[in-house]
Amino acid sequence: MTDTARTQAPRLRVGIVGCGNISRNHIEAYAAIEGTEVVGVCDVDTARVRQTAATWQIPHAVDSAAALLDLGLDIISVCTPHPTHEAVVLQAAAAGVHVLCEKPISVDLTAARNMVEACENHGVALGVLFQRRFWPAAAALRAAIDDGTLGRPVMGQVSVLLQRDPEYYRADAWRGTWANDGGGVLMTQAIHYIDLLQWYLGEVAEVYGAVNTFKHGDYIEVEDSASAVLKFTSGALATLNASTAASPSLGVQIRITGSTGATAELSEFPEGTDGRLTIAADGASAAEAPARITAGANVDLAAINEALIPHHRAQIEDFVDAVRGGGIPAVTGRDGTNALRILLAVYESARTGQPVRFAPFPAGVAVPPARSGTAAETNEPSPPAEVRPEIRANK
Ligand SMILES: NC(=O)c1ccc[n+]([C@@H]2O[C@H](COP(=O)([O-])OP(=O)(O)OC[C@H]3O[C@@H](n4cnc5c(N)ncnc54)[C@H](O)[C@@H]3O)[C@@H](O)[C@H]2O)c1
Repeated sequence: MTDTARTQAPRLRVGIVGCGNISRNHIEAYAAIEGTEVVGVCDVDTARVRQTAATWQIPHAVDSAAALLDLGLDIISVCTPHPTHEAVVLQAAAAGVHVLCEKPISVDLTAARNMVEACENHGVALGVLFQRRFWPAAAALRAAIDDGTLGRPVMGQVSVLLQRDPEYYRADAWRGTWANDGGGVLMTQAIHYIDLLQWYLGEVAEVYGAVNTFKHGDYIEVEDSASAVLKFTSGALATLNASTAASPSLGVQIRITGSTGATAELSEFPEGTDGRLTIAADGASAAEAPARITAGANVDLAAINEALIPHHRAQIEDFVDAVRGGGIPAVTGRDGTNALRILLAVYESARTGQPVRFAPFPAGVAVPPARSGTAAETNEPSPPAEVRPEIRANK
């Protein structure tokens, strides 16, 4: 929708719940979008909500979602800690207000499904914030799949090597706990890239994963590192490695290889900055040199959130247009639920030691034959190093 069309349409009244770190991205976005007005903000911290209203000259500062909804809203942005999303979304849906919810949609799959169902039943749009889909480079990668440059996507690799310091986890009491944060690097950081993976490779059939805590164990109970293998219903395969125990941060790299043999790499470095796309294809030169990794790549949270503002704006603009046009937002509550389901499957697999299956994985041409005397049949320890033949040969 053009700015002129937005100006001519009736103004949309917006409320923001939660006035913490990420609320600025929402407030600035609506302020910049023609035809939307943030009429109220809400936070259980009354000093914080008053301060936010004063900073942005927002007419109403209230301390409950119910009071915010009483202002008569068209759209509500949910920027509270994850476990509180469900209650706000259900209230908003019942009030007939369209909802844009920060990621993760929830920490609980049943809650996420309730939220999707409530919004569908009440005929309101539900969008979930995955603003990295709105990087021009992320959209260009999607286009390289759609226009056949990559062919059918067959392999994905995601590397999320980020740095967080103890203060990040200590700043907010809800961070780093299973009850309130719902998880660690998977739930809070990697979920963005899990969403990109599902956008590129489609429906996940099976997940096998493991988690551990290597650096932050003194002050968090959730994982700071995770690895997973994902199989897709298309037959595609992917691996994911994610950690907040790296320093310096190496940012994020997502590689998608297609059936043409071409590989696209999306790189976010430093964390929070626009993704950059490199495509390696036979007969074509790389679009752009890969990012050079240097020391000094650790970025503080405020800088990361600030760098995300243009992409929040792009997604919020898409959501506003969907509300105005009665369409479907680019990232829906169902997308948010699917991303959550994938990461919860990594936790389940880590707990049980077994893969989690959602759907059949098509038998490929490369089915390994059964062998006798395989590792799976025996729990015998590896032979000691000194009797390993290859080590002897090196002496
Ligand atoms: N899309 C992104 O890249 C991105 C980045 C950062 C945070 N987030 C998400 O945004 C959400 C908030 O994160 P944050 O870093 O801004 O958190 P925060 O702790 O800085 O702010 C949360 C605010 O919500 C308030 N609050 C808590 N419960 C409330 C309730 N029931 N009603 C009203 N207010 C309530 C708190 O007082 C606090 O001011 C999280 O779900 C987080 O994952 C997304």
